[in-house]
Amino acid sequence: MEKPVYSDPIWTLLKEQHAFLSAIHMRDLFDKEKDRFKQYSLTIDNILIDFSKNILNQETLSLLVKLATQAGLDKAIQDMFQGKRINATENRAVLHHALRMPENSKLVVEGQDIIPLINQTRNKMINFSEQIRNGIWLGSTQKKIKHIVNIGIGGSDLGPKMVVEALAAYVDPILDFHFVSNVDVHDLGRVLEKINPENTIFIVVSKTFTTQETLLNAKTAWAWLYKYLGDHKLVSKHFIAVTCDVNAAVKFGISDENIFQFWEWVGGRYSLWSAVGLIIMCAIGKKSFMDFLAGAYAMDQHFQSAPFTKNAPVLLALLGIWYINFFDYKSQAILPYHNNLRYLPAYLQQADMESNGKSVDQQGNYISYNTAPVIWGEPGTNGQHAFYQLLHQGTQIIPADFIGFAQGNFSEYGHQEILLSHFFAQTRAMMIGKTENEVKLELEETILSNREKEMILPHKIFYGNRPTNTILCSALTPYNLGMLIALYEQKIFSQGIIWNIYSFDQWGVELGKKLAGKILENLQQQKIPKDYDSSTQGLIEFYYKNLSKN
Ligand code: F6P
Repeated sequence: MEKPVYSDPIWTLLKEQHAFLSAIHMRDLFDKEKDRFKQYSLTIDNILIDFSKNILNQETLSLLVKLATQAGLDKAIQDMFQGKRINATENRAVLHHALRMPENSKLVVEGQDIIPLINQTRNKMINFSEQIRNGIWLGSTQKKIKHIVNIGIGGSDLGPKMVVEALAAYVDPILDFHFVSNVDVHDLGRVLEKINPENTIFIVVSKTFTTQETLLNAKTAWAWLYKYLGDHKLVSKHFIAVTCDVNAAVKFGISDENIFQFWEWVGGRYSLWSAVGLIIMCAIGKKSFMDFLAGAYAMDQHFQSAPFTKNAPVLLALLGIWYINFFDYKSQAILPYHNNLRYLPAYLQQADMESNGKSVDQQGNYISYNTAPVIWGEPGTNGQHAFYQLLHQGTQIIPADFIGFAQGNFSEYGHQEILLSHFFAQTRAMMIGKTENEVKLELEETILSNREKEMILPHKIFYGNRPTNTILCSALTPYNLGMLIALYEQKIFSQGIIWNIYSFDQWGVELGKKLAGKILENLQQQKIPKDYDSSTQGLIEFYYKNLSKN
């Protein structure tokens, strides 16, 4: 798309729509359109997506869909699925979706069918994970493996950690899974305290195998094992690598047969479907892992074939654009009503903010419209007792995705009904609010004096009209989770296309890394740098002064 998106006449019409709908409360939209739920919801397999509690009507929807069409989303989807090099700033194709295609598919990219490559690595993963799960894969002192420690950061940590936690009901209870990401040694230290060198393996996950945090954590883990085993050859039996750079892993000391490869065309934050998911397969086994891939594949099929008006990722993308670009709502909450999804907000934070947190368009121009929102969230009902006050009555309006499941894993003691009662109540409360009259009637029933009633009245009013999407699934199964993650991935992709930005690079993480390298040299030599700004210099001086206190 050569023309900036905001110069499109549809953008102007959407601005007019915004002005029109700003004067209408969602309550009135529900009153007017009695079948609103039917009009603004869709079901894919076992997932219902209800977007009726949004500030929109059919006119808005049709304009938003036109915006997507105008932006060339159709062609962009085709380009991605065909393996065109759409990640232009890194000159790479974007093919994480190929990792979830059925084994017998074919996908020829630049003259090579990549499915056999994928199958080969996946078979190696299956073989390895089965050996671990069946107690056949032994440590250097012939002990069965009990602890699996994933060392990685960003996309090499957040996805596997989120899925292993989410699918706890499917995880082999004989094994213990740990995740270390932070270069702060308290992270690794916390894990080392709990494990035994003889029955532990470390999976070092790094696409580039150059990431400072991961390599240092891996080296420290190696030294910890060496202290116990006293022989580097024995230590290497406890180390597995997952990377695109096999040579770098070999150089590190990991033996060839313990290296699982993936490819440059898998972005770090989209990599859990690849060998990066090795710990997931060890945790949930081959069958559940394949179900997980199948769920994502089903969502990909839907994304490629459904018309935009009925296309879940596209609709979620358009709603996001509607709020951030026209209402200026710059943040988006992800609120899973399943405690095992507690890492989902952090996972989506990277997926969304690292992909679309850009301010230059595909032609290299600075852009004047908002791109990715700030993504954050917590599971319900915990969040209700913490930050929902702001969601209901704060001055900022934060569109929220509520994600819930009909079935819980344990049905006793009524937890699930209570959880879901809150799940349903919250989106209704955010939409409907509580009017002045309703509060007055409520206060009449109390013994408060008239003065007290008057004083309390404004504080008890909820304006409502706060937008939410509800994603309700049958259960938190591997298949449904695969669908859910792919839904968000494709939403993020669609938004990137409409905003005309490159969603698959992450140049914004480079500068801090470079400066840290320079500052590290100063710190190692205890030098006070004279060419930094006074703030950085002052902070470093304070650090030196406090180094030897306590
Ligand atoms: O610094 C950001 C980043 O490059 C992420 O995009 C990536 O997921 C993470 O670091 C880890 O990178 P790697 O897998 O190469 O260690």
